Amino acid sequence: MSAENTSIDHLLTENRRFAPSAEFAADAVAGAELYEKAETDREGFWADQSRELLHWSTPFTQVLDWSNPPFAKWFADGALNVAYNCLDRHVEAGNGDRVALLWEGEPGDERRLTYAELTDEVKRLANVLADLGVGQGDRVAIYLPMIPEAVASMLAVARLGAVHSVVFGGFSADSLRARIDDAGAKLVITADGGWRKGKVSPLKPAVDQALAARNGLGEQETVEHVLVVKRGENEVDWFEGRDLWYHDVVPQASAEHEAQAFEAENPLFILYTSGTTGKPKGILHTSGGYLTQAAFTHRNVFDLHPETDVYWCTADIGWITGHSYVVYGPLANGATQVLYEGTPDHPEPGRWWDVIQKYGVTIFYTAPTAIRGFMKQGRQIPQARDLSSLRVLGSVGEPINPEAWVWYREVIGAGKTPVVDTWWQTETGAIMVSALPGVTETKPGSAQVPLPGISIDVVTDDGRPVGNDAGGLLVITEPWPSMLRGIWGDPERFKETYWDKFADQGYYFAGDGARLDEDGDIWLLGRVDDVMNVSGHRLSTAEIESALVAHEATAEAAVVGASDETTGQAVVAFVCIKENYLRAHSTEGLVDQLRLWVGEQIGAIARPRDVYIVSELPKTRSGKIMRRLLRDVAEGREVGDTQTLADTMVMSVISDQVAKK
Ligand code: WT7
Repeated sequence: MSAENTSIDHLLTENRRFAPSAEFAADAVAGAELYEKAETDREGFWADQSRELLHWSTPFTQVLDWSNPPFAKWFADGALNVAYNCLDRHVEAGNGDRVALLWEGEPGDERRLTYAELTDEVKRLANVLADLGVGQGDRVAIYLPMIPEAVASMLAVARLGAVHSVVFGGFSADSLRARIDDAGAKLVITADGGWRKGKVSPLKPAVDQALAARNGLGEQETVEHVLVVKRGENEVDWFEGRDLWYHDVVPQASAEHEAQAFEAENPLFILYTSGTTGKPKGILHTSGGYLTQAAFTHRNVFDLHPETDVYWCTADIGWITGHSYVVYGPLANGATQVLYEGTPDHPEPGRWWDVIQKYGVTIFYTAPTAIRGFMKQGRQIPQARDLSSLRVLGSVGEPINPEAWVWYREVIGAGKTPVVDTWWQTETGAIMVSALPGVTETKPGSAQVPLPGISIDVVTDDGRPVGNDAGGLLVITEPWPSMLRGIWGDPERFKETYWDKFADQGYYFAGDGARLDEDGDIWLLGRVDDVMNVSGHRLSTAEIESALVAHEATAEAAVVGASDETTGQAVVAFVCIKENYLRAHSTEGLVDQLRLWVGEQIGAIARPRDVYIVSELPKTRSGKIMRRLLRDVAEGREVGDTQTLADTMVMSVISDQVAKK
């Protein structure tokens, strides 16, 4: 059977069902009783999970405090140390020799760190950070490639009760600066560079730029030190007094460091994500509730058997998936995992499958965009490797189309592994909707059911449940342990963005459209706001528009997310150029310049796939840009209703201009 053959895709879609094998179910960590327990006593269920999965230095007696919604507190009178939970306690339990990280660099170099070794590294680093003045509540920015030091840095910051803000290495100096400023970071941990697609991609120069006076901003004022890991061996500038080499200070530091317990609501990290406005939001997560749900979901959704499994999540630590399912969930559970530095297709397209074969990966978690990319290359590439160790496959980041889901199961999972499609967000902190691999009969294309202890519904615009076989908006109807505690420095925006829409019902509005099928299973339909999802990464139309408008040639710009076969959505920009520029430059030259410019302003991921130079943008009489119509053009559809446009001719002009390109 060939799932690549789209003609049979229709036959494979909604009607296919895959029940867990009796063998898998018999050995599964999670059984159906979890749903019953959570149903009977939701808070009691989470309290039990938390006590079972974590070590509390001061046990909690309160579970949820929802007296001041939407500001939740979970396990508020308890105290714990997050890093102790991810490291020391495994060593103390006699598992110090278990491998924590099986690291593979892109050039093929390797490092293995046991739990004892990683604990040691984190203790030394914690001592160094403390000496540099980092203490409880201080913010530390982390801008690193996927190397063991990245994991160690997050844990060392957590160990001190400080707050990390990881910035994806693909973000530009400007994006980094905005994040460092917003959080008021005291220290930056970076590397000279990291390996990407066979080359060293420099990082330290971006940090130098971010901290310098530039673009109308003065010199950055809160950062006192920059700690630099040597990885790329690329030349870097050095600022005596500010910059320190990691290898000069960490190995020499003491490996004695006793973890102090912090209250459950002590902030753990800020992670910036795009919203509907130009300014990224600093999503704030705290300690006890976050770690509880990260550990619970990692264990149950992936059926983790820490003694025998080799787990691999391909996400970068710069995204929430890297936080919850590379760092906190797996390490809290004492898992052995692969950490890989590079891209999927370097030096050749089978690299990921080589990694799976080499390390005997049993649980694999990746994004639909990667799966669709592999489908395009053809099944012979994975089939030339031994992938028989795999037993659970996960998907995250965007809806996975049934065709890709089935290909994943058939080709990567040998037609036998459960596939779990996990829906969640930066804001939810951990997985919210997913099958349980030993319990649920899976359905390609549907994320299916809320996890035990999670309450989700699909409602109309005014908050009424749509019921089965209908579509609407996805809402979370009860607080959950790993929920965001706010937007850094902006409580009003937190309320406005997530809680105002369904204030009467007290629901959290996720920003996703969804449908319940006749069985009540959830199908995610994509964002309902001006947020795009490109390769599972969230991008804001407004943010890219403001970058485009900041270019001196641009008069006006509109950005839409157009569906794309591989990346889910792609960034498509419509730009009006100032007359004098239009006369002086070629269209191709301007298009190239603008694409590069967006890359510099935000990062390469935000670079538009297409830039169309147009003479006008479609607007309503009140001046609102009608992006819906531009999306029609970008996706090659017939343009929808243009009656509300101030000038109804505009769209035919734009269609002509796009067609000519
Ligand atoms: C948005 C959150 C969760 C980590 C990666 C992205 C979309 C996420 C799924 C899924 C359909 C999904 C949603 C969501 N999304 N997972 N399994 N099926 N859509 O985190 O950057 O915070 O983006 O990603 O639209 O709102 P994020």
